[in-house]
Amino acid sequence: MQRTKVVDVLTGQDKGKEICVKGWVRTKRGNKNVAFIALNDGSSFHSVQLVADLAKFDEDTLRKVTTGACISATGLVVESQGSGQSVELQMTSIEVLGEADAETYPLQKKGHSLEFLREIAHLRFRTNTFGAVFRIRHAMAFAIHKFFNDKGFFYIHSPIITGSDAEGAGAMFRVTTLDPVNPPKNETGTVDFKEDFFGGPTNLTVSGQLEAELAAMALGQVYTFGPTFRAENSNTSRHLAEFWMIEPEVAFNEIKENMDLAEEMLQYLVQYALDNCKDDLEFLNQQYDKELLDRLRFVVANKFERLNYGEAVEILKGSGVKFEFPVDWGTDLSSEHERWLVEKHFQKPVILTNYPKEIKAFYMKQNEDGKTVRAMDVLFPGIGEIIGGSQREENYDKLLNRMHEMHIPEEELYWYLDTRKFGTCPHAGFGLGFERLILFVTGMANIRDVIPFPRTPQNAAF
Ligand code: 4AD
Ligand code: MG
Repeated sequence: MQRTKVVDVLTGQDKGKEICVKGWVRTKRGNKNVAFIALNDGSSFHSVQLVADLAKFDEDTLRKVTTGACISATGLVVESQGSGQSVELQMTSIEVLGEADAETYPLQKKGHSLEFLREIAHLRFRTNTFGAVFRIRHAMAFAIHKFFNDKGFFYIHSPIITGSDAEGAGAMFRVTTLDPVNPPKNETGTVDFKEDFFGGPTNLTVSGQLEAELAAMALGQVYTFGPTFRAENSNTSRHLAEFWMIEPEVAFNEIKENMDLAEEMLQYLVQYALDNCKDDLEFLNQQYDKELLDRLRFVVANKFERLNYGEAVEILKGSGVKFEFPVDWGTDLSSEHERWLVEKHFQKPVILTNYPKEIKAFYMKQNEDGKTVRAMDVLFPGIGEIIGGSQREENYDKLLNRMHEMHIPEEELYWYLDTRKFGTCPHAGFGLGFERLILFVTGMANIRDVIPFPRTPQNAAF
């Protein structure tokens, strides 16, 4: 018999019919006459209840039906006697596909800490929490593609291995096939990367932006969505060494349209989650964060606050709050400053623009004041920076000048400079940290709990 997914069973569509379900046992309880098995197959947050009349089943088989075991069961779909579900399965046959020894299965009991579950990342998918988180993560990835596709953007696959390390977004991981113990050396005694696989030093990318800009100068509106890598030693609840980033880039957009696009996209994604991930969100709201749903609805319903970096610094300086790191014009804001602005002062998402050029990347469009660039950071409650972006410097001479000032070798970026030489135009884009979005939407507190296999300093076990 063909398998019916639990999500479909629970609609009640098969009432009165005999069907087959397959999945993993969440719990088994009962009495001398009857056993109740909660079966989950991942298709829904909810499990389906199987009711087994003990007299009709082999005792040995039922003994193997323990928490974590995988079973296939057939039965009649009937109106549920108990509360909490509309239908249940009156079981007629059962087959144990995979046993899970009750003595050694780590998820035998409920209520493990998130820290413990991180240690068993290979099994944590089977919990209510991680089922919910990863269904939501999927929905957000899908919604991102839908958002851009509906707007006529093209998805560009930027390279993961790159020979250019000039963007300066963060420390890079080297990619090499050279023998680490005995690498080939040249006359001066340094490693001879000509012998390396690509004939020169290569790294894992920190961002697909520069490549996205090349594509935007022909296809008009593009976006990347891929893994990016940063070898910073940041052991925080907001940083990963391997994270996914979405980077739209749009020809003819200036900073205002860039902000509009970021705001529209974030509101679209949060609304998509509210519309499509109801059961999972309700569980997370109840289990971890009672304000989650209110916060999500609030972000969709209210315009983001927009102000200059300089204004934000004045507000922070006049706040009377003792921050760990003092603020003054020119300092990079830390997450304590960003979160105070968002959570305490404005009490809504904030977009800061026009940052000092010294603390931002070389490619950002320079303002007339000679001091600031058209950068924008979107700051979110509970998160801090969720998006970083800018209008780009499209003027060849100004861009080259800035590269010289920042000691960025122009030979390495000749291809990037070419776009400013041949048919340059105003353009803008930004990067959304995918895991930071998932943190916000799920209300989880640690970024390690919203990616299946987190990579952080000292940790990439499997
Ligand atoms: O602000 P960032 O460094 O910007 C860029 O990489 C630009 N090239 C984007 C662009 O204009 N196309 O990173 C963008 C976002 C941040 O706002 C943050 O959400 C996320 O990426 N991010 C990280 N997320 C997890 N772990 C890390 N180590 C992250 N570093 C940045
Ligand atoms: Mg940034």
